[in-house]
Amino acid sequence: MADLEGDVVYPDPSIAINSHVPDADALRAEALADPDKFWADRANELEWFKPWNAVLDRSKAPFFKWFTGAEVNIVHNCLDRHLKGPNKNKLALIWQSEDGQERRTFSYFSLNRQVNMMANVLKAMGVVKGDRITIYLPRIPEVFFAMLACAKIGAVHSVIFAGFSSDALTDRIDDSQSKLVITADGSWINGSVFPLKEIVDKAVRFSPTVENVIVVKRTGSEVTMDPLRDHWYHDLQALPIAKGKCETEKLDSEHPLYILYTSGSTGKPKAILHTHGGYMVGTYTTLKYSFDMRAEDRWWCTADPGWVTGHSYLVYGPLLTGATTFLFEGGPTYPYPSRWWQLVEYYGITQFYTAPTAIRSLMRFGEAWPNRHDLSSLRLLGTVGEPINPEAWKWFHRVIGKERCPVIDTWWQTETGMFQITQVPGEPQKPGSAGKPFFGQDAAIYNEAGDEVPDGDEGFLVLKNPWPAMFRTLYGDDERFVNTYWAKYPGVYLAGDAARKDADGYLWIIGRTDDVINVSGHRLGTAEVESALVSHPDVTEAAVVGLPHEVKGQAIHAFVTLRVGVEGSKELGEELRKHVAAHLSPIAKPDAIDFPDKLPKTRSGKIMRRVLKARALGQDEGDLTTLED
Ligand code: WT7
Repeated sequence: MADLEGDVVYPDPSIAINSHVPDADALRAEALADPDKFWADRANELEWFKPWNAVLDRSKAPFFKWFTGAEVNIVHNCLDRHLKGPNKNKLALIWQSEDGQERRTFSYFSLNRQVNMMANVLKAMGVVKGDRITIYLPRIPEVFFAMLACAKIGAVHSVIFAGFSSDALTDRIDDSQSKLVITADGSWINGSVFPLKEIVDKAVRFSPTVENVIVVKRTGSEVTMDPLRDHWYHDLQALPIAKGKCETEKLDSEHPLYILYTSGSTGKPKAILHTHGGYMVGTYTTLKYSFDMRAEDRWWCTADPGWVTGHSYLVYGPLLTGATTFLFEGGPTYPYPSRWWQLVEYYGITQFYTAPTAIRSLMRFGEAWPNRHDLSSLRLLGTVGEPINPEAWKWFHRVIGKERCPVIDTWWQTETGMFQITQVPGEPQKPGSAGKPFFGQDAAIYNEAGDEVPDGDEGFLVLKNPWPAMFRTLYGDDERFVNTYWAKYPGVYLAGDAARKDADGYLWIIGRTDDVINVSGHRLGTAEVESALVSHPDVTEAAVVGLPHEVKGQAIHAFVTLRVGVEGSKELGEELRKHVAAHLSPIAKPDAIDFPDKLPKTRSGKIMRRVLKARALGQDEGDLTTLED
């Protein structure tokens, strides 16, 4: 953690003057004085089929409603709206393949045509308003078509990161009761094929709800097609049902847009539910202001569409602002660690938004790789997913941004849908701090009793004001929604992070306070990883903790007890790592596995992860009075 009195970096004064928000503190004060007015003004920049009665309905708090009574569709503002003006023939989406051999570009006009086609196909398969659709696709343009097609007809998408295993996919399909799955034959990962269709086959074999599977051809690998259930997307596209215009449904502002699963402190992932109207206004406004979006911009968010960052700031936000968004199929280091910088130069990327873990991994390869490329098109940089250490911030700022480009650190969550703590480009920046609350938001640091702690002290981060892109509930579990986020301090949102606030009002995020480990910016619940380990026949019990890691932020360290007669070994450790990859996700593979005789527990049988963590770090084990023996 950086020292609170650390460096301050002042951007060139021309940046503030020429941006959407020349005086951030003035707008912050104005928006805080009347948040409803601030949000209504922003909402009025977009198109509505029918105006709202109230900006915010607090009557059933914490089940807040935004723009009540209004009719809208986020897709109308992502696509239809642009077809009437100068954006019609502008590039909406640029895509490049991992191997660099293929490029596909879509104007707003042609993206709209593709979305209509996918929407027509979904309708022909019997998908109606409110139905849930699971999307399990690689980073290819079809993921945009699929998400937007669902939203266009009022279906609810559930995008699953295409690195999750079949078990994880089954759980999520069943929980959302999806009627249809959209996938591909495979995806390219560093030159090899990851068998998406095979994983879907396993996942839906006994699914009581999935009627159809649409398969996009990407890798050309051999797949099994069930003649009654599975359909190649290119075959469907050729049918008359796919042709013609598809009306954009007029939906209630609070109509569900998507479900996105994220990890919490129990084994069951949380189904975060977002809706059309508020989410649209929130993602549009945050992207426009924090990244100063302009008509001529080429925006690149490196996140996968399978995470919330991909939803809000790769797909929806950029299209709402009328920018050009860039989607790259591959990762940062394949085939060389200059891959991203070469793409920035080639496409003339203006704003580049990525994760601290990626910056740290690229730093290790040295400055020669980025220095080989002309990065002068860049004007803003951004980070998300975990606290950024000041060294990585400074490297990003100096080596990539040439000390010209402000680095916008954005703190938010799957739950929040949009940035909550961040800055606008002209403001003084403190490397390692996420900045101040976004316009209309008020954040505080509470102690256990719910009192604000003095500046500089650590405590629980809370958000005091509702915001338009807030999740509306956990799908199918209102009770868990209330208990997890709104019960500890009635009336305010408990974020689940520890943080401090300095005397200038800058917030410094420390990390999660619950049983969630942040590996390379991905949230993993300890319980999920433990249950994957315990599903191996040789394992009797498992406990995992997150330990600091130079590149990943946190790494998983597992402690596993074995069935009588089985000996812990390097080979078994490797087998368990593979087991976790296959049953949960490769991201969740423990970095280290220990085989103790037993796990430290409280008298009531709760595993004391705190003790394991201290042991792994060689630290004092702290208060052991509750230990069973
Ligand atoms: C958790 C949310 C929202 C996009 C990606 C992750 C951590 C996120 C920052 C940041 C420090 C951050 C928090 C938060 N986090 N952004 N800029 N600085 N920490 O979404 O998977 O819902 O995870 O990520 O701990 O609670 P998510």
